[in-house]
Amino acid sequence: MKIGLLGYGTVGSAFYALARERADTQVKKLLVLERLPGPDCEQVTDFGQIARDEEIDTVVELIGGLHPAYEFVTEAMRRGKNVVTANKLLVSACYGELIALAQKQGVALRCTAAAGGGIPWLRCLSRLAETDAIDEVSGIMNGSTNFILSAMTQSGEDYNAVLLEAQRLGYCEADPTADVGGFDAQRKLVISANIAFGVSLREAEVPCFGIDGITAKDIAYFKEKGLVCKLIAHAQKRGGAISACVEPMLFPESAQMAHVGGPDNLIRLHAGRVGWQSFSGAGAGGFATASNVLADCLEVKGGCPSFYTDRLDPAAVDNETLTQRYYVRAVDTVREDAEMTVAAAHRLAAEYRAEKTPFFMAALSEE
Ligand code: HSE
Repeated sequence: MKIGLLGYGTVGSAFYALARERADTQVKKLLVLERLPGPDCEQVTDFGQIARDEEIDTVVELIGGLHPAYEFVTEAMRRGKNVVTANKLLVSACYGELIALAQKQGVALRCTAAAGGGIPWLRCLSRLAETDAIDEVSGIMNGSTNFILSAMTQSGEDYNAVLLEAQRLGYCEADPTADVGGFDAQRKLVISANIAFGVSLREAEVPCFGIDGITAKDIAYFKEKGLVCKLIAHAQKRGGAISACVEPMLFPESAQMAHVGGPDNLIRLHAGRVGWQSFSGAGAGGFATASNVLADCLEVKGGCPSFYTDRLDPAAVDNETLTQRYYVRAVDTVREDAEMTVAAAHRLAAEYRAEKTPFFMAALSEE
């Protein structure tokens, strides 16, 4: 397999090292912004040199972001090249379009590392979707917020101090808003739900409430009640209706979810025949993520279908029917058992956000 590698950051450099150890994966050209001293393959600064290279059969996109990743990936597929990417933003935003293009061109598109980092979540999910009816995907899909919540629970420190530590350790995205606002988890949820349910959800329909409003006082309150707060992305299919959102959730200390520490992920699915299955491990990190990218390359080399699924049923998110109990705190006033639909809870959050009133909410898990 001859690869055109885009990007040499944390994941790109780890992938380069892994590919180099093998005889069957050769990085022929590497796209960089400027020449780097480390990599010993041909380095180029113009993507056209990779696109036009007929020997390159697979483009591995690890630059992240929407542009120019979108232009590079679509151009590669139009030229008959397979694409492997870890880019959750791109795949979530352009899901239907990218799959249709891969199918039209008869090339493979794989993105296992886009959700779950080093966990083979999407690969397992897609296999199960072929043989069983998956009706729920949920869990901790963002490592940096899990690190922040775990550290706040352990140390009693306030949010800002712990956020700085998460950034210092390199767990957050360049702009931490995507992590703490829940948008990173939202993208991973959209990709997961799409593959699980065979649909194409629009990101904008999945409401997000993140952890940036949480205080040390909220955490102390939860601790007193024996509860642990986690940022959970969840999507459920009941009959024809799909509910989906990202929101903090409170678990009893005995729950499996409560025990996930540091930047780890714990993602699970429920399906008609197999019941619950959980997947946990490193949701981020150079070599963990790169090993999933390499596994995708090997799948492509083995001749896999264009995408994990060819089902793209039209679907809309409906959060009006799922009712949950919520902890709600506006300024210093707490309501600890407010029963609301997911849609109503997220509308309430949006109203407080618009008023700039300090506000935090968390759903109470039924575990
Ligand atoms: N910032 C992401 C996270 C990295 O914290 O999970 C992996 O997608």
